[in-house]
Amino acid sequence: MPAESSTRSSVVIVANRLPVDQVTDPDGSTRWQRSPGGLVSALEPFMRQRSGAWLGWSGAAGDAPAEFDNEGLHLVPITLSTEELDRYYEGFCNASLWPLYHDVVQPPAFHRSWWDAYVTINARFAEAASAAAAPEATVWVHDYQLQLVPAMLRKSRPDLRIGFFLHIPFPPMELFMQLPWRRQIVEGLLGADLIGFQRPMGAHNFLQLTRHLLKLRPSGSSVDYDGRAVRAASFPISIDTAAFDRLASSPEVVERASAIRNELGSPEKIILGVDRLDYTKGIGVRLRAFEELLQDGSITAPETVLVQVATPSRERIEHYVTMREEIERTVGHINGDYGGIGGPAVHYLHQSMPKEELAALYRAADVMAVTPYRDGMNLVAKEYVAARGDLGGALVLSEFAGAAAELRHAFLVNPHDITGVKAALRDALAISPAAAARRMRAMRRTVRKYDLDHWAESFFAALGSEPTS
Ligand code: G6P
Repeated sequence: MPAESSTRSSVVIVANRLPVDQVTDPDGSTRWQRSPGGLVSALEPFMRQRSGAWLGWSGAAGDAPAEFDNEGLHLVPITLSTEELDRYYEGFCNASLWPLYHDVVQPPAFHRSWWDAYVTINARFAEAASAAAAPEATVWVHDYQLQLVPAMLRKSRPDLRIGFFLHIPFPPMELFMQLPWRRQIVEGLLGADLIGFQRPMGAHNFLQLTRHLLKLRPSGSSVDYDGRAVRAASFPISIDTAAFDRLASSPEVVERASAIRNELGSPEKIILGVDRLDYTKGIGVRLRAFEELLQDGSITAPETVLVQVATPSRERIEHYVTMREEIERTVGHINGDYGGIGGPAVHYLHQSMPKEELAALYRAADVMAVTPYRDGMNLVAKEYVAARGDLGGALVLSEFAGAAAELRHAFLVNPHDITGVKAALRDALAISPAAAARRMRAMRRTVRKYDLDHWAESFFAALGSEPTS
């Protein structure tokens, strides 16, 4: 057994990122701020209510700071050197697995040096998890960056209960088979007692692969492997709906929402997009549909404006650099053709936003456009619904986001079909308040019932261990 950590916990989260990122200010001082992305948004509030440990990378290259306590959580930073970040994080995680798992929206690249780094870093996380977990603890491993950890951890700590949850889609067999290390990944995941996916199809794809690659015999939602039953099932992730609802209905946020409308020049309609700047999110589709609506006179600016918040993400990876250039060129183009002095058609913000400001934007938006080509869940869609306690607003949502399975009362679109996206935007802009309220009420029932606690509790229950409250 590896050296013990100073604190040993009965619930340990292992994720690529800590819920907070270490950032260095221009004056050289460092501070911690909330990490980006859906994984952290979903898990952080749940874990903060429980005294668990969380292992992850601090967001900065080089020696990790010592473990520390942060608002009820014990945080254990894991070191990643500049070269490891290059090969493991930017390489194998985000230029091999990310595009492969998102239906090859961009071509994945496979390099042996990236894979070697992936193995090394997964072993580092497994070792740290082994040191942080109390006897018979529950360890919950997250996402595509750490798919080898379950098997590595089981080897050193057979006493643990190990769960794994994949936040992104799990691809169909035909695509997964491209991966040169496909067998190792499947075996890595099989180290868990329970493997959770966003959608039933992910679990199905995985079980099919165990048959195809390892000649196992899955039955129902389980497969016997190495003398154990491993379960693969879907657990659609969610948000802390009540907390988000509360925040969005607070007087400060409601007031800020009307101030935003004023600052935008009091347009009749506001369309909103909020995404990490990622090529899977279909930001270009949205811009193109908006531009065509302006072109054919269905809408005019500045009576109707688009606000696009694009959170900076993975900025050193080539596909992300190219994509940012393309989007910014398109925004410039649309504003050049359709904007007026002091009245752009597209308000584009390439920055992270505090939760309060996001909630106010959701509250101000008449139409929320969520148009990914492929998305594990998409929590922005759920946040929008949670924010609309006033029953206003309409959601345009891609069929290829996991959230579409639950939010059936959205205007569902195929993001590959620009004409369809335009029609949905037009319909959403024209919907009557009564019809919008009916749809919103139905969607709110769903996100209230299937919230974050429901997700985490059903996962823990299926894993056979109760979360510590
Ligand atoms: C998605 C992934 C997360 C990831 C997040 C942000 O939500 O599922 O695992 O942390 O994006 O991406 P980043 O590369 O900045 O961690």
